[in-house]
Amino acid sequence: MSPEQILKTTQLTKSFGNLIAVNQAELEIFRGEIVGLIGPNGAGKTTLFNLITGLETPDKGQVLFKNQDITFLPPHKICQLGMSRTFQVTRSFGEMPVEDAIRVGAYNRRGEKEVQKKVDEVIEFFDLKHIKKTKCNDLGLASLRKVEVARAAATEPDLLLLDEAGAGLTASELFKLMEELKELNHETGITLCVVEHVMEMVMGLCQRIFVLDAGEMIACGVPGEICNNQRVIEAYLGGGSYVESGSKS
Ligand SMILES: Nc1ncnc2c1ncn2[C@@H]1O[C@H](COP(=O)(O)OP(=O)(O)O)[C@@H](O)[C@H]1O
Ligand SMILES: [Mg+2]
Repeated sequence: MSPEQILKTTQLTKSFGNLIAVNQAELEIFRGEIVGLIGPNGAGKTTLFNLITGLETPDKGQVLFKNQDITFLPPHKICQLGMSRTFQVTRSFGEMPVEDAIRVGAYNRRGEKEVQKKVDEVIEFFDLKHIKKTKCNDLGLASLRKVEVARAAATEPDLLLLDEAGAGLTASELFKLMEELKELNHETGITLCVVEHVMEMVMGLCQRIFVLDAGEMIACGVPGEICNNQRVIEAYLGGGSYVESGSKS
Protein backbone atom coordinates (compact mmCIF):
# COMPACT_ATOMS: atom_id res chain seq x y z
CA MET A 1 0.00 0.00 0.00
CA SER A 2 1.42 3.38 -0.90
CA PRO A 3 1.66 5.92 1.92
CA GLU A 4 -1.17 8.41 2.31
CA GLN A 5 -0.26 11.97 1.47
CA ILE A 6 -1.30 14.38 4.22
CA LEU A 7 0.19 17.66 2.99
CA LYS A 8 1.42 18.89 -0.34
CA THR A 9 2.51 22.33 -1.40
CA THR A 10 2.89 23.07 -5.09
CA GLN A 11 5.01 25.97 -6.36
CA LEU A 12 4.26 27.92 -3.20
CA THR A 13 5.60 31.45 -3.56
CA LYS A 14 5.55 34.53 -1.33
CA SER A 15 7.34 37.85 -1.76
CA PHE A 16 7.74 40.75 0.64
CA GLY A 17 8.52 43.73 -1.59
CA ASN A 18 11.52 42.71 -3.67
CA LEU A 19 12.41 39.79 -1.48
CA ILE A 20 11.16 36.35 -2.52
CA ALA A 21 10.87 34.73 0.90
CA VAL A 22 9.46 31.44 -0.41
CA ASN A 23 10.12 30.53 -4.02
CA GLN A 24 8.11 27.75 -5.69
CA ALA A 25 8.48 25.53 -2.65
CA GLU A 26 7.35 21.94 -2.95
CA LEU A 27 6.83 20.01 0.26
CA GLU A 28 5.17 16.61 0.49
CA ILE A 29 4.44 14.89 3.78
CA PHE A 30 2.86 11.48 4.35
CA ARG A 31 0.61 10.49 7.22
CA GLY A 32 2.48 9.30 10.30
CA GLU A 33 5.88 10.68 9.30
CA ILE A 34 8.22 12.89 11.27
CA VAL A 35 9.69 15.31 8.77
CA GLY A 36 12.32 17.98 9.36
CA LEU A 37 12.58 21.37 7.68
CA ILE A 38 16.02 22.94 7.95
CA GLY A 39 17.91 25.84 6.42
CA PRO A 40 19.83 28.97 7.38
CA ASN A 41 18.22 31.90 9.16
CA GLY A 42 16.08 33.83 6.71
CA ALA A 43 15.67 30.79 4.43
CA GLY A 44 11.87 31.11 4.57
CA LYS A 45 10.97 28.29 6.98
CA THR A 46 8.62 30.35 9.17
CA THR A 47 7.07 32.00 6.12
CA LEU A 48 6.43 28.55 4.63
CA PHE A 49 4.70 27.50 7.86
CA ASN A 50 2.69 30.76 7.78
CA LEU A 51 1.57 30.02 4.22
CA ILE A 52 0.60 26.45 5.09
CA THR A 53 -1.36 27.46 8.21
CA GLY A 54 -3.18 30.38 6.62
CA LEU A 55 -1.42 33.24 8.42
CA GLU A 56 -0.07 34.48 5.09
CA THR A 57 -1.56 34.09 1.65
CA PRO A 58 0.73 33.04 -1.19
CA ASP A 59 1.32 35.03 -4.38
CA LYS A 60 1.29 31.76 -6.25
CA GLY A 61 0.90 28.05 -5.66
CA GLN A 62 -1.31 25.72 -3.72
CA VAL A 63 -1.55 23.98 -0.36
CA LEU A 64 -3.34 20.64 -0.23
CA PHE A 65 -4.17 19.16 3.19
CA LYS A 66 -5.75 15.73 3.24
CA ASN A 67 -6.55 16.23 -0.45
CA GLN A 68 -8.41 19.46 0.23
CA ASP A 69 -7.30 22.80 -1.19
CA ILE A 70 -6.72 24.99 1.89
CA THR A 71 -4.60 27.67 0.19
CA PHE A 72 -6.89 30.55 1.05
CA LEU A 73 -8.60 29.25 4.17
CA PRO A 74 -8.19 31.26 7.41
CA PRO A 75 -6.08 29.76 10.25
CA HIS A 76 -9.01 28.72 12.47
CA LYS A 77 -10.62 26.74 9.64
CA ILE A 78 -7.32 25.00 8.91
CA CYS A 79 -6.97 24.18 12.60
CA GLN A 80 -10.47 22.69 12.63
CA LEU A 81 -9.49 20.52 9.67
CA GLY A 82 -6.71 19.02 11.79
CA MET A 83 -3.56 21.10 11.46
CA SER A 84 -1.91 22.81 14.39
CA ARG A 85 1.38 24.63 14.96
CA THR A 86 3.67 26.22 17.50
CA PHE A 87 5.41 29.56 17.09
CA GLN A 88 9.12 30.34 17.02
CA VAL A 89 8.59 33.23 19.42
CA THR A 90 6.61 31.90 22.35
CA ARG A 91 3.28 33.59 22.68
CA SER A 92 2.22 34.63 26.10
CA PHE A 93 -0.90 33.21 27.63
CA GLY A 94 -0.46 35.86 30.30
CA GLU A 95 -2.11 35.24 33.61
CA MET A 96 -3.79 32.09 32.34
CA PRO A 97 -2.91 28.94 34.29
CA VAL A 98 -1.24 26.19 32.26
CA GLU A 99 -4.30 23.98 32.49
CA ASP A 100 -6.53 26.68 30.97
CA ALA A 101 -4.05 27.42 28.16
CA ILE A 102 -4.19 23.75 27.22
CA ARG A 103 -7.99 23.74 27.51
CA VAL A 104 -8.13 26.48 24.84
CA GLY A 105 -6.48 24.00 22.50
CA ALA A 106 -8.70 21.09 23.49
CA TYR A 107 -11.88 23.02 22.59
CA ASN A 108 -10.83 22.74 18.94
CA ARG A 109 -12.41 19.31 18.62
CA ARG A 110 -14.33 18.80 21.84
CA GLY A 111 -17.39 20.16 23.54
CA GLU A 112 -17.71 21.16 27.17
CA LYS A 113 -18.29 17.60 28.39
CA GLU A 114 -15.29 15.92 26.79
CA VAL A 115 -12.78 18.73 26.99
CA GLN A 116 -11.40 18.03 30.49
CA LYS A 117 -10.54 14.44 29.61
CA LYS A 118 -8.25 15.64 26.83
CA VAL A 119 -6.71 18.31 29.08
CA ASP A 120 -5.89 15.69 31.74
CA GLU A 121 -4.48 13.33 29.12
CA VAL A 122 -2.19 15.97 27.64
CA ILE A 123 -1.03 17.20 31.06
CA GLU A 124 -0.16 13.63 31.99
CA PHE A 125 1.59 12.95 28.70
CA PHE A 126 3.79 16.06 28.83
CA ASP A 127 4.42 15.70 32.55
CA LEU A 128 2.89 19.08 33.45
CA LYS A 129 0.88 18.06 36.51
CA HIS A 130 3.10 19.94 38.96
CA ILE A 131 2.65 23.22 37.08
CA LYS A 132 -0.93 22.92 35.87
CA LYS A 133 -2.12 25.72 38.17
CA THR A 134 0.91 27.94 37.46
CA LYS A 135 0.25 31.11 35.49
CA CYS A 136 1.92 31.05 32.07
CA ASN A 137 3.63 34.37 32.88
CA ASP A 138 5.48 32.69 35.72
CA LEU A 139 6.88 29.85 33.64
CA GLY A 140 10.49 29.46 32.61
CA LEU A 141 11.30 29.10 28.92
CA ALA A 142 11.53 25.29 28.93
CA SER A 143 8.09 24.92 30.55
CA LEU A 144 6.57 27.60 28.33
CA ARG A 145 7.85 25.83 25.20
CA LYS A 146 6.43 22.58 26.46
CA VAL A 147 3.04 24.17 27.20
CA GLU A 148 2.98 25.49 23.63
CA VAL A 149 3.55 22.00 22.26
CA ALA A 150 1.00 20.55 24.70
CA ARG A 151 -1.61 23.14 23.73
CA ALA A 152 -1.07 22.38 20.04
CA ALA A 153 -1.30 18.62 20.73
CA ALA A 154 -4.53 19.19 22.66
CA THR A 155 -6.20 20.40 19.46
CA GLU A 156 -5.84 16.75 18.35
CA PRO A 157 -4.27 17.55 15.01
CA ASP A 158 -3.48 15.11 12.24
CA LEU A 159 -0.49 17.29 11.39
CA LEU A 160 1.52 19.34 13.86
CA LEU A 161 4.05 21.93 12.68
CA LEU A 162 6.71 22.86 15.22
CA ASP A 163 8.68 26.04 14.54
CA GLU A 164 11.86 25.86 16.59
CA ALA A 165 10.00 24.44 19.57
CA GLY A 166 13.34 23.69 21.20
CA ALA A 167 14.96 27.11 20.76
CA GLY A 168 16.71 28.28 23.89
CA LEU A 169 16.49 24.94 25.66
CA THR A 170 19.47 23.22 27.25
CA ALA A 171 20.75 20.02 25.64
CA SER A 172 19.00 17.81 28.18
CA GLU A 173 15.69 19.73 27.92
CA LEU A 174 15.92 19.43 24.15
CA PHE A 175 16.59 15.71 24.36
CA LYS A 176 13.55 15.25 26.61
CA LEU A 177 11.38 17.22 24.17
CA MET A 178 12.65 15.07 21.31
CA GLU A 179 11.73 11.89 23.19
CA GLU A 180 8.26 13.28 23.95
CA LEU A 181 7.71 14.18 20.31
CA LYS A 182 8.76 10.71 19.20
CA GLU A 183 6.38 9.18 21.71
CA LEU A 184 3.56 11.53 20.67
CA ASN A 185 4.03 10.48 17.06
CA HIS A 186 4.29 6.82 17.99
CA GLU A 187 1.32 6.70 20.35
CA THR A 188 -1.13 9.01 18.63
CA GLY A 189 0.00 8.77 15.02
CA ILE A 190 0.18 12.58 14.74
CA THR A 191 2.31 13.57 11.76
CA LEU A 192 5.07 16.02 12.70
CA CYS A 193 6.92 18.63 10.69
CA VAL A 194 9.75 20.13 12.70
CA VAL A 195 11.88 23.23 12.11
CA GLU A 196 14.97 22.86 14.24
CA HIS A 197 18.58 24.05 14.17
CA VAL A 198 20.22 21.52 16.45
CA MET A 199 21.31 18.80 14.06
CA GLU A 200 21.38 15.98 16.64
CA MET A 201 17.71 16.69 17.26
CA VAL A 202 16.84 16.78 13.56
CA MET A 203 18.84 13.70 12.69
CA GLY A 204 17.63 11.75 15.72
CA LEU A 205 13.99 12.63 15.26
CA CYS A 206 13.22 12.93 11.57
CA GLN A 207 12.72 10.21 9.01
CA ARG A 208 13.02 12.63 6.10
CA ILE A 209 14.40 16.14 5.88
CA PHE A 210 13.64 19.04 3.56
CA VAL A 211 16.19 21.81 3.12
CA LEU A 212 15.22 25.37 2.32
CA ASP A 213 17.76 27.96 1.23
CA ALA A 214 16.90 31.51 0.14
CA GLY A 215 13.27 30.48 -0.30
CA GLU A 216 14.05 27.47 -2.47
CA MET A 217 13.77 23.82 -1.56
CA ILE A 218 17.26 22.61 -2.42
CA ALA A 219 17.10 19.05 -1.10
CA CYS A 220 14.91 16.35 0.40
CA GLY A 221 15.97 12.97 1.69
CA VAL A 222 16.71 10.70 4.62
CA PRO A 223 19.15 12.11 7.22
CA GLY A 224 22.16 10.26 5.77
CA GLU A 225 21.53 11.70 2.31
CA ILE A 226 21.09 15.22 3.65
CA CYS A 227 24.33 15.10 5.68
CA ASN A 228 26.25 14.14 2.56
CA ASN A 229 24.50 16.43 0.09
CA GLN A 230 27.08 18.88 -1.24
CA ARG A 231 24.57 21.67 -1.83
CA VAL A 232 23.22 21.36 1.70
CA ILE A 233 26.71 21.33 3.18
CA GLU A 234 27.58 24.51 1.28
CA ALA A 235 24.34 26.29 2.10
CA TYR A 236 23.87 25.25 5.69
CA LEU A 237 25.79 22.48 7.33
CA GLY A 238 29.20 23.95 6.51
CA GLY A 239 32.47 22.08 6.17
CA GLY A 240 31.73 19.25 8.55
CA SER A 241 30.43 21.53 11.27
CA TYR A 242 27.66 19.08 12.05
CA VAL A 243 30.17 16.40 12.89
CA GLU A 244 32.34 18.81 14.89
CA SER A 245 29.86 20.88 16.85
CA GLY A 246 26.57 19.14 16.28
CA SER A 247 24.62 22.32 15.91
CA LYS A 248 24.21 25.24 13.67
CA SER A 249 22.27 28.42 14.11
N1 LIG B 1 6.24 40.03 7.22
C1 LIG B 1 7.41 40.17 6.59
N2 LIG B 1 7.71 41.30 5.94
C2 LIG B 1 8.88 41.46 5.29
N3 LIG B 1 9.84 40.51 5.22
C3 LIG B 1 9.60 39.36 5.87
C4 LIG B 1 8.38 39.12 6.58
N4 LIG B 1 8.43 37.87 7.10
C5 LIG B 1 9.61 37.36 6.74
N5 LIG B 1 10.32 38.23 6.00
C6 LIG B 1 11.63 38.00 5.38
O1 LIG B 1 11.53 36.80 4.64
C7 LIG B 1 12.73 36.03 4.76
C8 LIG B 1 12.39 34.67 5.32
O2 LIG B 1 12.06 34.83 6.70
P1 LIG B 1 11.61 33.62 7.60
O3 LIG B 1 10.51 32.90 6.92
O4 LIG B 1 11.34 34.16 8.94
O5 LIG B 1 12.92 32.69 7.61
P2 LIG B 1 13.38 31.55 8.60
O6 LIG B 1 12.21 31.16 9.44
O7 LIG B 1 13.88 30.46 7.72
O8 LIG B 1 14.50 32.15 9.42
C9 LIG B 1 13.67 36.86 5.63
O9 LIG B 1 14.54 37.58 4.79
C10 LIG B 1 12.75 37.76 6.40
O10 LIG B 1 13.39 38.95 6.77
MG1 LIG C 1 11.90 31.13 11.47
